[in-house]
Amino acid sequence: MRVIIKDNANDCSSWVAGYIAYRIKKAKPTAKHPFVLGLPAGSTPLGIYQELIKLYQNKKTSFEHVVTFNMDEYVGLSPRDPHSYHHFMYENLFNHIDINPKNIHILNGQTKDYAKECENYEKNITTYGGIDLMLGGVGRDGHIAFNEPFSSLGSRTRIKTLAPSTIKDNSHFFGGDISQVPTQALTMGVGTILDSKEIIIMATGAAKAEAIHQAIEGCINHMWTITALQMHQHGIIVCDEEATQKLSPSTVEYFKSIENQGN
Ligand code: GLP
Repeated sequence: MRVIIKDNANDCSSWVAGYIAYRIKKAKPTAKHPFVLGLPAGSTPLGIYQELIKLYQNKKTSFEHVVTFNMDEYVGLSPRDPHSYHHFMYENLFNHIDINPKNIHILNGQTKDYAKECENYEKNITTYGGIDLMLGGVGRDGHIAFNEPFSSLGSRTRIKTLAPSTIKDNSHFFGGDISQVPTQALTMGVGTILDSKEIIIMATGAAKAEAIHQAIEGCINHMWTITALQMHQHGIIVCDEEATQKLSPSTVEYFKSIENQGN
């Protein structure tokens, strides 16, 4: 696992956006062989999306041949609902870049057949040869996408019931009203995420410190689904100083020294 520690959230966002642009460029994507990018919603990626929009506007990157698959979507919300992840993605990224709308994939939380929707999503990812780079955030309880504590580390895309702590945390997007937060979501599984060729998880702020401690120093455990990243050959955690508060000083020193050597 690679761990990149930056001074603050802005520096994390710039690094991640730059890395995504670098990966897209390096892949030299075409219409026939597009670059496949997995994307999250939430507060964490907002700064990354702003940086990606700037890179696009400054002609440093293009999404013309990029295909996206979002990690998750709330059950029951229409794509037009301002709280849906559909709406979030168009507002904060897709409306501002040159991506072909046909290349955007987000789970349909209003489907009548959840199992079929999730199965088709998995098949669709396979059709593109898998996800080249998966970007994610992490919940305070260590969940990735909506893989709540005790999710199978081999799970695939499916419907999940949200943990009370996640509903509470995400209620700030719903005006602080817990009763407005959907109780279920469709989400890529931990296994789906691990199938990606490369994974970046970004975490900032002291509230994520325990999740980062578990992710880097904890045992692989279904209580903290982020720990599954330890099994991936190309996993990167990008975090700010505040999120490292619960790591041992020697762990922080080790990862910083590796990055300083440019290895
Ligand atoms: C939600 C999302 C996750 C996200 C997490 C943390 O539950 N499903 O993908 O990582 O929240 O969100 P935030 O970035 O707002 O802290």
